Amino acid sequence: MVKNPSPQDPETMSYWEVLKKIKRLKPQEHSFGILGLFVVTVFCFLCCFFYLDYRIVSRGFRHRGQLHKLVWVEFDGSGRSERVEFLKAGGERCDLFNGQWVWDEQYPLYRSKDCRFLDEGFRCSENGRPDSLYTKWRWQPKDCNLPRFDAKVMLEKLQNRRLVFVGDSIGRNQWESLLCMLSSAVPNEDSIYEVNGSPITKHKGFLVFKFRDFNCTVEYYRAPFLVLQSRPPAGVPGKVKTTLKLDQMDWSSAQWRDADVLIFNTGHWWNFEKTIRGGCYFQEGEEVKYDMSVQSAYQRSIITLVDWIGREVNMSKTQIFFRTFAPVHFRGGDWRTGGSCHLEKLPELGLSRVSSQSWSQFSIFSDVLQAHSNKPQVLGLDVLNITHMTSRRKDGHSSLYYLGPKIGPAPIHRQDCSHWCLPGVPDAWNELMYALFLKREVARTQNSAISQAQV
Ligand SMILES: *[C@@H]1O[C@H](CO)[C@@H](O)[C@H](O)[C@H]1NC(C)=O
Ligand SMILES: *[C@@H]1O[C@H](CO)[C@@H](O)[C@H](O)[C@H]1NC(C)=O
Ligand SMILES: *[C@@H]1O[C@H](CO)[C@@H](O)[C@H](O)[C@H]1NC(C)=O
Repeated sequence: MVKNPSPQDPETMSYWEVLKKIKRLKPQEHSFGILGLFVVTVFCFLCCFFYLDYRIVSRGFRHRGQLHKLVWVEFDGSGRSERVEFLKAGGERCDLFNGQWVWDEQYPLYRSKDCRFLDEGFRCSENGRPDSLYTKWRWQPKDCNLPRFDAKVMLEKLQNRRLVFVGDSIGRNQWESLLCMLSSAVPNEDSIYEVNGSPITKHKGFLVFKFRDFNCTVEYYRAPFLVLQSRPPAGVPGKVKTTLKLDQMDWSSAQWRDADVLIFNTGHWWNFEKTIRGGCYFQEGEEVKYDMSVQSAYQRSIITLVDWIGREVNMSKTQIFFRTFAPVHFRGGDWRTGGSCHLEKLPELGLSRVSSQSWSQFSIFSDVLQAHSNKPQVLGLDVLNITHMTSRRKDGHSSLYYLGPKIGPAPIHRQDCSHWCLPGVPDAWNELMYALFLKREVARTQNSAISQAQV
């Protein structure tokens, strides 16, 4: 039936070991452990069933690939070696975002207590989160293998360059993850510093971290809407406190237009609560659009982004990523009404139960790209299409553990099910970014070799 776990391959843990691990949960976690065990057992049974079924069926005809998606936990280590490497011949067409979360004993890539670049809000284990299973999952694309993240390689390729994140606090979450991933290869802590001496906090504005020995910077600009939020035009009713200029990029865009790598995200602020309820209305040209829906405004802002890239960015120099919406996991409410992700300790088995309606930002973004798909800046854009994979990770959120080590867990009705514990899920987004970054580097080196040969 299920192949024997191969103890000599530390890469991918067998399903049985995951079970053992869950059984070893601490006493106060027992009830959950047993529940988890039960769920996993049932799932295992289904998996074995489908796996065998798949084996038999796939001999007959090749197109029953859907069943394969149900094999959630890898059964042995051989899966990795059978696939092509993403950066090698045959790997280039692989869809990195179609795959599964697999248990990997070599994870996490760093420990939060060794990384001074994390703000307290993401230090879940130091803030009292007792379980750490959520740090052990690696993203495995279905048809190829990702390159292992190598901080030294990335820093060397970033030499004399700027990498910039622009977006909301989930973007900051990902930026801090990358700082930890990169700094793990730098023994001299003092050689990494914020150029203005600012501490990492939730403050507004921007932070620029320099890796001195590589003369590169890894920067974060807070621009939750990407477009400009500023004072309304004169003569508008008093309820209009600010407006979002849907046809202009954020004021800071002049500062990052020339960066070498730009990673955008936006989405979590595009809702009624964070706009109109707070007196922030939408504006195009000189006109305040009182009746515009949040969704149309979001769509308009993505078009502005696409136009701006085409107009302002030299895409032979700058690699542009857009990270798609990261789903939230408030079960039975939202952050105000007691929505819950606390005590979630495992990724979703199979497909996510998060309704895709909660990711309307994702579909709006995809539709805009589709409609502009013939434009060179859209063809050149690297989409970090992480929405689906992330929707399966209800176990990765900060939940009660975001207040800092001195204060202790938050009350049960104030859970954070949007941000992510670090190490954790954003590390996987950065590993995908790394793969696409290296891919472009390979193309660049080849191009410059060709042009040198021509001279
Ligand atoms: C993103 O990935 C999902 C899952 O593989 C896929 O269904 C979807 O079509 C992709 N979307 C885009 C815009 O690439
Ligand atoms: C350091 O990198 C910046 C670009 O980020 C570049 O303008 C500058 O010339 C570099 N300095 C050295 C000494 O190479
Ligand atoms: C765009 O960047 C490339 C590569 O750095 C450079 O060779 C080219 O001159 C730039 N083009 C413009 C218009 O600045």
